[in-house]
Amino acid sequence: MELRVAIIGCGHRGIAMAAAYQGNPHIRLTAACDVDEERRKTLCDRFQIPGAYSDWTKMLKEEPIDILHLATQPTFRKEPIMAAAEAKIPVVLSEKPIALSLPDLDEMLSACQKTGTRLIINHQLRYQSIPRRLKSAMERKEVGEATFLLAHCRMNALEQGTHLLDLVVWLKEKAKPQWAMGDAYGWEDFAKTHSAPGTVMGLIGFDDGTRCLAMMGPEAPSLYDEDALHFHFGIMVYGSQGRGQMWLGRWHLFKSSAHQSWTRLPYRDDDASAQRALQQDLVRAVNEPDFLHPCDARIGRTSLELIEALILSYHRQERVHLPLPTGASALQTLREQVSQGKLGG
Ligand SMILES: NC(=O)c1ccc[n+]([C@@H]2O[C@H](COP(=O)([O-])OP(=O)(O)OC[C@H]3O[C@@H](n4cnc5c(N)ncnc54)[C@H](O)[C@@H]3O)[C@@H](O)[C@H]2O)c1
Repeated sequence: MELRVAIIGCGHRGIAMAAAYQGNPHIRLTAACDVDEERRKTLCDRFQIPGAYSDWTKMLKEEPIDILHLATQPTFRKEPIMAAAEAKIPVVLSEKPIALSLPDLDEMLSACQKTGTRLIINHQLRYQSIPRRLKSAMERKEVGEATFLLAHCRMNALEQGTHLLDLVVWLKEKAKPQWAMGDAYGWEDFAKTHSAPGTVMGLIGFDDGTRCLAMMGPEAPSLYDEDALHFHFGIMVYGSQGRGQMWLGRWHLFKSSAHQSWTRLPYRDDDASAQRALQQDLVRAVNEPDFLHPCDARIGRTSLELIEALILSYHRQERVHLPLPTGASALQTLREQVSQGKLGG
């Protein structure tokens, strides 16, 4: 039986996601919703989607939905996810960042857990071949023991940082992050839909002794040959016998000047096949009760917790330990302080 997918948000991401679903024989796009009539019509016409809605609550009432894809901005997440849980929709896939604070995500997770809805984050980088190459190099100890990671992106912590830290946690899957010591500054980005400090950076300690320096914002390294801001994104792994590095669409392994290799892939193609693979696993998440999707929000939660931890450490001016206490958000506190003019530029 084909699974019925409904999309909320017919913007750039909604279109890209509809295109990825379209090639899947187990999935049928049955409904889409956007408050913007032109966007809604463009997406529904292009992908021949029969159910076009301007009101998402009406769509949830009228359409039988197996997978709800939320392709809106992060300012509009909690309401539809809570409603989808109440409606017992089997799977909700949300774009990143899943929430603007950790307590918001925890509320969504608890609502989903009560009714059995699987909440999944579109952290599709886990499925791309370049990060997978880096992970397998680490697991096979191609660069010896990996003791230090540098993870960087030039967009802010909620724009790209959740992708970045999700990859770090996934690369270090066998270890647990234990503590974070961070700094945050640059308040103008709080006005964005991805409302966060312009810069968040700091050190994350894992229980196997590995350290990761994370830099998110305009002071992170830039790549000399990339124009688009989102391509200034990478992870370098320093091992006892060499170095492995990934950027979006390329990979470099360095053991010695005589032993190094470079790979470059068309990023769009790699991302598109990663997206299709993630969506194929949604079919398993609907059909197999014991299948844990690699991008399940209970797993992806750690990336948001790490951002909160780095900001909490800035507030307290000390190292903070994980897990963080639930119910409080250093990010939301900072957002409120900035909006009340309590902090200087
Ligand atoms: N996973 C990735 O790699 C990746 C890549 C790009 C973007 N994204 C994420 O995707 C999300 C969406 O990005 P975008 O560029 O498509 O945004 P966008 O603003 O272009 O599109 C969002 C759409 O949602 C609609 N919308 C807003 N409120 C609505 C409501 N109440 N009911 C129905 N429709 C509503 C808007 O009208 C708009 O058309 C962002 O969170 C972004 O970070 C993820």
